[in-house]
Amino acid sequence: MSVLPDPAVVAGLDHWRQLEARQQPTWPDAGALHEATTRLAEVPPLVFAGEADRLRELLAAASRGEAFLLQGGDCAETFAELSADSIRDKIKTILQMAVVLTYGASMPVIKMGRMAGQYAKPRSSDTETRDGQTLPAYRGDIINDYAFTPASRIPDPQRLLEAYHNSATTLNLIRAFTQGGFADLRLVHDWNRGFMTNPAYAQYDAFATEIDRAIRFMKAAGADFDALRTVEFFSSHEGLLLDYERPLTRIDSRTGHPYDCSAHFLWIGERTRQLDGAHVDFFSRVHNPIGVKLGPTTTVDDALALMDTLNPEGEAGRLTFVSRMGASKIRDLLPALVEGVKADGRPVTWVCDPMHGNGFTSDNGYKTRQFADVIDEVRGFFEVHRAAGTVPGGLHVELTGSDVTEVLGGSEEIDQEALTRRYETRVDPRLNHQQSLEMAFLVAEMLRGS
Ligand code: PEP
Ligand code: CO
Repeated sequence: MSVLPDPAVVAGLDHWRQLEARQQPTWPDAGALHEATTRLAEVPPLVFAGEADRLRELLAAASRGEAFLLQGGDCAETFAELSADSIRDKIKTILQMAVVLTYGASMPVIKMGRMAGQYAKPRSSDTETRDGQTLPAYRGDIINDYAFTPASRIPDPQRLLEAYHNSATTLNLIRAFTQGGFADLRLVHDWNRGFMTNPAYAQYDAFATEIDRAIRFMKAAGADFDALRTVEFFSSHEGLLLDYERPLTRIDSRTGHPYDCSAHFLWIGERTRQLDGAHVDFFSRVHNPIGVKLGPTTTVDDALALMDTLNPEGEAGRLTFVSRMGASKIRDLLPALVEGVKADGRPVTWVCDPMHGNGFTSDNGYKTRQFADVIDEVRGFFEVHRAAGTVPGGLHVELTGSDVTEVLGGSEEIDQEALTRRYETRVDPRLNHQQSLEMAFLVAEMLRGS
């Protein structure tokens, strides 16, 4: 039976238009924007309400320590990089990490890509100046082009539709890879064995051998490996560009609730989480599981007010707080937030983003991060939750499946000189395939300590 939409609920979905919406482009042509958003409101949804509900249940399990979230992908996807290989390599990396984490945590790992829609970027400045020329900042492929020319940087609403189609293509391949046999546990385990042949990773040998034994034990005991040929995989991106998110929001005919059908999970960024702002208002009205990034300036009152607005009833799995404090600050700043939320009593899924608080510019001019800082922030995250008796529920990372050289360190010791070799990101530096797997081994050990 279908439920008719409540006109007040539908009208509420546009309330954000009366509020301040930060980080939005100035579209030069209102007619073209109208045309694009009208079309977007007609196209099929990318995900279904029932899938988002399923994810909410899994995230609820993560809030209780019965599952662990692994969310990873590019800082910014680009139209040019859309290819079967790049999608496959990212999926492969996430699946490989997930096997290691599942073993370390002895619990299910929820697999989620920063994929199939991660096209809009918040910027610290509205403009960019190079050699005396100032142009509008690049805001992600969904808005303008990266090339530093006046024409490229003009926001173009046709890009909303291009982003939608690219997201659909990406999601289609994700669904094929994760349902069609590519995610088979035996295959993923073999890839991990391949990774371990590099002597740089000898320190993880004992752990990898244990996983190998566990899989052989499962086989001997007659485990149904065919049931492990498919995995659930969810999509997510920062819900930044409201002219994209609003038209892709649909009323679920089963319940009458609105869902943002651009992805299973949307998060509100550090720069757009103002309590009286457009983003918090809009996402308070959709039924997907929602995340909010919490940086070093977050107060306990901010966190509680976000809970009041985004999850007043305290439904488990609805609200995820993604802390991104920086390795040097997390042990000082996270405890108060965690204690404040714990005292409130309403459930939150706590996830660690060890990337965005650890950026700096290298001496040779690259925006980078130290692998050791990334790992140290995760370690701090576990320490803080252990001390508070709360649950470290997951990891949010920027990674890619290829051999880029964007983050310093790791066992293969990427140094400043190496940054010049394959630095390909448009925005933030990503862990490469090897660094991602190494991180999985290190975090698996932390999880096992629990
Ligand atoms: C991001 O996730 O790429 C990002 C911009 O993060 P934050 O909002 O935490 O700065
Ligand atoms: Co980023």
